[in-house]
Order: sequence, then C-alpha cells, then structure tokens
Amino acid sequence: MYTFAPPLAPERLPELLRLMPKAELHIHIEGSLEPELIFALAQRNGVALPYASVDELRAAYAFTNLQSFLDIYYAGASVLVTEQDFYDMTRAYLLRAAQDNVIHTEIFFDPQTHTARGVAMETVVKGLHRACADAQAELGVSASLILCFLRHLSEEEAFETLEQALPYRDKIIGVGLDSGEVGNPPEKFARVFARCRELGLHLVAHAGEEGPPAYIWTALDVLKVERIDHGVQAIKDPALMQRLAQERIALTVCPLSNLKLCVFPELAQHNLRQLLDAGLAATVNSDDPAYFGGYMNDNFTQVFAATGMDARHAYTLARNSFEASFIDETTLSRYIGQLDACFESFR
Ligand code: HPA
Ligand code: ZN
Repeated sequence: MYTFAPPLAPERLPELLRLMPKAELHIHIEGSLEPELIFALAQRNGVALPYASVDELRAAYAFTNLQSFLDIYYAGASVLVTEQDFYDMTRAYLLRAAQDNVIHTEIFFDPQTHTARGVAMETVVKGLHRACADAQAELGVSASLILCFLRHLSEEEAFETLEQALPYRDKIIGVGLDSGEVGNPPEKFARVFARCRELGLHLVAHAGEEGPPAYIWTALDVLKVERIDHGVQAIKDPALMQRLAQERIALTVCPLSNLKLCVFPELAQHNLRQLLDAGLAATVNSDDPAYFGGYMNDNFTQVFAATGMDARHAYTLARNSFEASFIDETTLSRYIGQLDACFESFR
C-alpha cells in the first residue's frame, strides 16, 4: 500500500476516484458492445438476433455464473463483420474510457469468436488498431491490444490463431487466455504460451475467477504470465498470497463483473480491500462494461462505497494500474507524475 494520498473528507472521495488518472488493464472489447450498438450493427449487416428489442436483450443480462454470461456475450459479438464495425466498437469504448480519466488501456480481443464465423484476422486487427491510433492522436489515450486465446477450444486452434496473427505482430503487445475457466486449466496452453514468449509477446491469463488457486499457480509457473486476470480466489491459499505479494504480480480485479457473475454475493463482501491490505498489486477494471453495469469509474465508486476503502487505497490502485501496465519507463514516469499532481490538488 502507498501512503502518498492526503487526508481527505470522505464526501470528496467519489470526486477523487472519478478525476484521478488511471489505466485499464482488463477490458474485453467485445464486452464493451452496448445493446444499442449491437442492434445498429445487426441492422447494418443483416444479422438476425434472437431478441426483438434493446430492452429484451438487456433483460437477458441476468447471469448466474461465467458460462451464463459467455453464451450471451458470444451471441452479441456475432454482429461484428466489417473492419468499420470493429473500429466503431473500439472507438465507442475509448471515448467512454476517456470520460472516466482512463489515460492508458490494454484491450483484450477474442479473434476466434470472429474467425470461426469467417471474419478475417486482418479485418479484426485493422479495425481495432485504427481506433487505438486515433485515440492516441485525438484523445491523448494510449491504447494497445492483447490477443486472447479461448480456453474452451484446443491448443492446436490457439496455435492456428497465433499463426494468423503473426502478420500483425507489430500491432499486438501480448496474449491472454479467457472464456470458460473451470475444466480448462492454464497448462492446457503450455506450448503455445512458450512460443508466444519466444516471440517477445507479453503474457497474461485469466485465473482464479471461478477456478481454484491451483490455476493461478500454473498460470505463473507453467505459462509464466506477468499478470493474473481476476485472481480473487488467491485469498483461499496463504502461500499463494505471500508469493503474489512478494513478487508484485498484479491482479486485474473486476468488482462489478464479480458481482454480476455471482463470484461474490454482495459487493460489500468483495475481497479487493483484503488483497490490497495484504500487499498484493491489485488493480480495478471493468471486464465487460456493457454487460456488467459499469465502466471504470462505476467500478471504483461502487466498490469503494461498499467496502469502505479510502484515498490511500485509491492512490495505490491507480499507481498499481500504471506500474502493472506494459508501457515504457518514460511514459510510466509521466503518468505517475499526472497521478501525483491530481492527488496534490486535493491537499
Ligand atoms: N472471464 C473469462 N472470459 C471472459 C470474461 C471473463 O470475465 N469476459 C469475457 N470473456
Ligand atoms: Zn475478463
């Protein structure tokens, strides 16, 4: 925990949370597709949806676990067909993130969801990348791309996906692992992650969202990932907690996602505060904001209100988000300078 933050009247905390510069390190771009945009793209592309209206679609967002969400999330992504669709989706997210004072973001995308429907890897990557480049130029937001392999599919299919992505290697900073966790442990993807490591890609993986602490251990020891996405189940394993703290391995925690997917019954029972107080490098992220009821600042303000965290936790979370990111040292110093200036202005 950092102690940099000034003493702050509790009623000013939400303002500080909104204004502080921050990085988002766990956002699935397909999970930023708002129902209105899903319907607009379905119409533009002549894709039939199994929902009659935006309201009917939104009413289906009542999830009981990860898989119940993934079924609807993959159906929503089926409206993405052209490069412009991928651009428009990413543009909308980046505009929304900038409103929340997100100044850096590392965006997950699921190419297999699209290539399985006959959409070319080129279409996906070019649309996403053009939106990222425009965000840097027009919004001053730095954005980079992390390709996620779907863990319910085979390692062979992950290798094919990597092969298709290699012509766009310069537009991708790393790879991740997402989709249904339980029954698909990290070690299933040992060889493809080893290959990505040889290629100089950064490595992350979802682990310990619904799955056991053992999956966090193998993500670290077999896949050799640099960050753990979610990781909240680590709390069940004291030796793992100690290791994560000692090695400063970041967890990209997603409070509203965990609430909506019933990982915790109430936000007041979320363990983010315990993770931080135990010295882990936790961060706050939105995961799939269009589905889980909130973007970055909603996640911050709601989890702070529910768990009673203070300005020191806020500073620590924002600082962790920059330090756990894959930006270069010069940019890191600049962003921490902006963060410190924001906190100084509350003194
Ligand atoms: N977990 C696993 N896979 C996902 C998620 C998630 O929270 N969001 C989108 N794909
Ligand atoms: Zn996720």
